[in-house]
Order: sequence, then C-alpha cells, then structure tokens
Amino acid sequence: MTWNLENKTALVTGGTKGIGKAIVKEFLELGANVIAVARGQESIDAMKAEIVSDKLTVISADLSTKEGIKKIVDSLTALDILVNNVGMNIRKKIVDFEDEDFDKIVNTNLFSMYELTRKCFPLLKESKGNVVSIASVTGMTHVKSGVIYGMTKAAMIQFTRNIAVEWAEYGIRLNAVSPWYIHTPLTAGVLANPDFYAEVVSRTPLRRVGLPEEVAAAVAFFAMNNASFITGQNLAVDGGFTINGF
Ligand SMILES: NC(=O)c1ccc[n+]([C@@H]2O[C@H](COP(=O)([O-])OP(=O)(O)OC[C@H]3O[C@@H](n4cnc5c(N)ncnc54)[C@H](OP(=O)(O)O)[C@@H]3O)[C@@H](O)[C@H]2O)c1
Repeated sequence: MTWNLENKTALVTGGTKGIGKAIVKEFLELGANVIAVARGQESIDAMKAEIVSDKLTVISADLSTKEGIKKIVDSLTALDILVNNVGMNIRKKIVDFEDEDFDKIVNTNLFSMYELTRKCFPLLKESKGNVVSIASVTGMTHVKSGVIYGMTKAAMIQFTRNIAVEWAEYGIRLNAVSPWYIHTPLTAGVLANPDFYAEVVSRTPLRRVGLPEEVAAAVAFFAMNNASFITGQNLAVDGGFTINGF
C-alpha cells in the first residue's frame, strides 16, 4: 500500500474556497487528477491563477440544483473519488426561519450530496471508488448553528452509513469527516466576534480553531487505498470538542 492518490480522478464540490480548496491542493500533491466545482466565476478564476496544474479542472455549476448536478455528471468520463464538500448555513432560531431558508440549506447541504452521489454510481462502481462527505460536529451534538444546518449534517452522516452498506457489494466505500470550527470564509463572520471566538476556543480541548489543511488530511486518508477496510465511518476533526464533557 502506498500513501498517494496517483492515477485517481477526484471530484471535489465547493473546491474553490476554505476546506474544499485545501482538499484540492492535498489531492493534487498526492498525485490525483482533480475536478473542482463552485458557482462563482471570480473564485474559479482566482483558483486557476493560484494553482497552475494540468491535473486541475475547475467547473462552474450550482450543485443545489438538479441541472447543476446533471451538468457535472455529464462532464465526467471517469471517477475514483467523490468529495461532497459543498455547504452553507443561515443561523436563526427555529421560529424565525422562512421557507426559503429551509429549501436553501437543505438543497445545498443535503440534496446536492444525495443526488450527486447516486448519479455518480455507475462511475464509482466501475472504479470501485469511494465517497468522502464533509458533515459537521453539528450533526453529532448540539451546536449553536441553527437546527436546519444540524439536521442536514446529521442526515449526511446517516446517508454515509446507509449507502456504505448498500454499495459494499460493489466495493464502493463511503465515509464522512465532521469538522468543528475551521478558519474559512464560511466562518469568518462569526469568528470575527471576539467573545464568540473565545467561547469556541474555551470549548475546544486543543484550545484553537482548526485549519482547512487539517480537514483535508483526514479526507485524503479516507480517499486512499490505505483506508480500504474503512467504510460507513464519521471522523470528527474537532480538537477534541465532541469528547469534551464537563
Ligand atoms: N468552516 C467550518 O468551520 C466548518 C465546520 C464544519 C463543517 N463545515 C462544512 O465544510 C464544508 C466546506 O465549508 P467551508 O467553510 O470551506 O465553506 P466556504 O468557505 O463557504 O466554501 C464553500 C465552497 O462551496 C462552494 N459552493 C457553495 N455553494 C455552492 C453551490 N450551491 N454549488 C456549487 N458550489 C457551491 C463555494 O463557492 P461559490 O460560492 O463560488 O459557489 C466555495 O467554493 C461545508 O459543507 C461546511 O458545512 C465547515
């Protein structure tokens, strides 16, 4: 067994910023061909300027829609690794949510994973590939991030368990990685509040916020052949947050 992703083709959703971008960089370093997907042309152009590699393709699509997912699936000719990383949040109390908030969060975080993963089945079956999905500690315990986000992340973890069993006969593995607070554009707003930041750090045994590269390392491990007997698992990358009792 070797610690690399040579000759593998990987699709990383939400690959132009934060955790997704770190996964793209890690996969390229490990030798994979990577297709990154995001909506914004500006971040796509910035990514292409920053990472110059003939192993990187960046495509624009909105993965919260069936059309966006079809566009990406139709463009694929081979796939060994699917990373479901796209995600967003709207933080409100349950009684304050609008119907549009529910649809937006569920379609971006959960529907995208469900629809893209099942549409990639023929290619994953062909390659005996694997899927790594970025869930969250909010799917494992209560976090003050709003109930809809937590619900979608818990569902991602359960999706991973169900389909790991359903697709085991094809040699396809599925695993999830659940981060606690990580420095990315998604969390920059809330972490800019010094009181909130101090509260996050005080609840984290390792006494800091995580880095995107620390999530990418766990994703790369699950994606490699070295993890060939690991499926249906959810790994918290959380500085000890989820095992921190009183
Ligand atoms: N950061 C954390 O502390 C943390 C903790 C736990 C879990 N997570 C999870 O980790 C994942 C990545 O988070 P992040 O913090 O790296 O987020 P981020 O900084 O906001 O980056 C999100 C990426 O997804 C793309 N994206 C968003 N919506 C999309 C859509 N509908 N279709 C296609 N691309 C889309 C964005 O590009 P465009 O906007 O240009 O489309 C961007 O490349 C998410 O699932 C998040 O829930 C993050």
